[in-house]
Amino acid sequence: MSQFVRFTIDGTECMASRGQYLVDAARENGVFIPTLCNYPGVKPKGSCRICTVKVNGKLMTACTTPVAEGMNIENESADINELRKSIIELLFVEGNHFCPACEKSGNCELQALAYRFRMMVPRFPFQFPNRAVDASHPRIIKDHNRCILCKRCIRVITDESGRSIFAYRKRSASVEVVVDPKLGKQLTEDLAQKAMDVCPVGSILVKEKGFHVPIGERKYDKVPIGSDIENMQSTKI
Ligand code: SF4
Ligand code: FES
Repeated sequence: MSQFVRFTIDGTECMASRGQYLVDAARENGVFIPTLCNYPGVKPKGSCRICTVKVNGKLMTACTTPVAEGMNIENESADINELRKSIIELLFVEGNHFCPACEKSGNCELQALAYRFRMMVPRFPFQFPNRAVDASHPRIIKDHNRCILCKRCIRVITDESGRSIFAYRKRSASVEVVVDPKLGKQLTEDLAQKAMDVCPVGSILVKEKGFHVPIGERKYDKVPIGSDIENMQSTKI
């Protein structure tokens, strides 16, 4: 059995290693599939649904679906992009995201996706939830207003024994992600910065380091999200 599989994305022939997740296989073929909860190097969670594509006509999450021979993938159709835009709008109205006042502006994946999918004003009512900003940890500020519960920090930021330094607290509608009270001391300066970088929004901010790079000169201020993938040389064989 060949280690490679052939498939199409929006009608274009692609090739990737057998078993690769669709989102990674697409990237290697110069195709951007948006992600939020997914993060390289950790097991996909498949919770945000922003990476939804149609595989042989069926809606599936590209971050959890391994590529297979002959797959026919729809990524850029009007209905899929409409679905993605709705998810972005729902994330905006469900929390309190005031981009101009956020230290992550220009580096925020949610904001960058909103621009990519041309979100103007969300079509859903704003919830304006009453959430806390927790500055009790000596290294970080945890702003629950902006947390989209993607679990990236929980899965990526671990101590030397592999224990997650971030954890869920409370349940259902009140659930929030916090620094685990027992492991808070393990959040070193480097890990605090990594946590801020791993968070796709501005929910984890390193204290006393704000606005080093001026707004307007940050990652997605300069290049739209996904353009690095779309502009790269295709690796199709
Ligand atoms: S703090 Fe950031 S990385 Fe952690 S769950 Fe919330 S949005 Fe995701
Ligand atoms: S990135 Fe695939 S479900 Fe979130």
